[in-house]
Amino acid sequence: MLKDICVNKNYGNLVDGEWVTTQNSIEIYNPLNNSLLGTIPAMSQEDINKVLKSSKKAQTSWANTPVSERANILYKAANLLEENKEVLANILMNEICKDKKSCLSEVTRTATFIRFTADAAKHLEGEVIYADNFPGFEKNKISFVTRVPMGVILAISPFNYPINLSASKIAPALMGGNSIVLKPPTQGAISALHLCEIFSLAGVPKGVLNTVTGKGSEIGDYIVTHEDVDFINFTGSTEVGKHIAKIAGMVPLLMELGGKDAAIVLEDADLDRAVKEIVSGAYSYSGQRCTAIKRVLVMNSIADKFSEKLAKEVSKLKVGNPEETDVTITPLIDNSSADFVESLIKDALSKNAKQLVEYKRKNNLISPYLLDNVSLDMDIAWVEPFGPVLPIIRIDSIEEAINICNRSNYGLQSSIFTSNIDNAFYIASKLEVGTVQVNTKTERGPDHFPFSGIKDSGIGTQGIKYSIESMTRLKATNITMHNL
Ligand code: NAP
Ligand code: G3H
Repeated sequence: MLKDICVNKNYGNLVDGEWVTTQNSIEIYNPLNNSLLGTIPAMSQEDINKVLKSSKKAQTSWANTPVSERANILYKAANLLEENKEVLANILMNEICKDKKSCLSEVTRTATFIRFTADAAKHLEGEVIYADNFPGFEKNKISFVTRVPMGVILAISPFNYPINLSASKIAPALMGGNSIVLKPPTQGAISALHLCEIFSLAGVPKGVLNTVTGKGSEIGDYIVTHEDVDFINFTGSTEVGKHIAKIAGMVPLLMELGGKDAAIVLEDADLDRAVKEIVSGAYSYSGQRCTAIKRVLVMNSIADKFSEKLAKEVSKLKVGNPEETDVTITPLIDNSSADFVESLIKDALSKNAKQLVEYKRKNNLISPYLLDNVSLDMDIAWVEPFGPVLPIIRIDSIEEAINICNRSNYGLQSSIFTSNIDNAFYIASKLEVGTVQVNTKTERGPDHFPFSGIKDSGIGTQGIKYSIESMTRLKATNITMHNL
């Protein structure tokens, strides 16, 4: 188990049921200590053509495989994931430097996701519509509306959840009767390839799930515009998402992109609860989550007290090696990400933001950092840092909070902390985001809830049932009974 896909640390791609290496490869290093973890294939355009050909061919018979059979394969994959969770969590930890506890939780969450997806798909049905519901038509015409696959799905996943955000595309796509080509993140590919090994071992037929590795900047445009791709499901940065949207033509898109989620703290909030939720929301996995809280908007009247409490909790966060127990802050994915976070901090300090904890950095490890008195001319008020830094913006009214939230180009989530349900609902109704959380941190789960970003945060809706619906389409067969 979990060994066929690599020889001497040289990983292959899953192509038509075989693990295939290529002449050119990319070395993958551990972001913690730069040790070599292995190599992954750098696929050429010719290799990609072979993959797409196999996916297209396999899709037809997979679409004819009974849903209950597809579900049984997914249940088996979920069980295999759980049986191998220790091994997978270690691979994940070494590749993306996520703390071990969160790696384990990513694997088990993924197993639950896969099972729930199989269950949900068994209950997705079409409908029958009579024509006489519409004025001027008679009952003799009936539409049978069924759900059919989109065809070949191209799934592109990001580095921060290479197992979960690959499976969240693969499982619903498979249950919808599609074949799927996964292009994992380069840093994260080894983890994602192991996930695909699990699906393959569980019985996904050859060609139904294939993988393509290579640098997005080199092979991305080719694969995204490939004539055999029928649908693109992308999770990653807004910059790359917008680029794909520009070149993809008429191919339907589902996109989960960046965010700048705000936590709004009103005068009547339970401050201890708000602080606990905000610390967890902002700093887990060192802030490298799309749904991380990326700015706090706090009422001026309670701002001093709130900032003091927040700073106290932030300074308690454990910083270090992902293997250590209870560690929250681990090294960022690479040095250039840390440089970017530092540049935002420097910009804010040069414009008179106030640091509430000392700034410490060693290579790609940045200690949790907190800035108060952040003003709207600072980049950190608007830009997604994807690192362990949280800006506090002081506000004087609910309207000001709504205005600042909605001026963002992003629209993923927001949190509101208040004990006044009327204010919570009023603010929620005004915020231009996919999801509003009341008295809790911003987060994606539970995974059967709808999850969508608007504006620069995405296109369409994910979440188990919604993802299956997004990756299938409605087909109508209309019958007219002339003897009625
Ligand atoms: P990224 O740099 O945009 O990369 C995402 C994926 O796109 C990777 O597989 C990457 O491959 C690939 N890619 C790069 N250039 C491409 C191109 N021209 N054509 C096709 N694919 C291309 O994002 P990331 O740094 O991995 O992830 C962090 C970002 O993702 C953040 O902005 C975060 O907010 C967002 N995110 C959003 C959600 C959500 O649900 N809304 C969830 C997670 C992450 P390579 O690795 O080979 O470059
Ligand atoms: O990075 C984006 C993930 O989808 C976030 O998931 O809120 O459960 O950490 P999460």
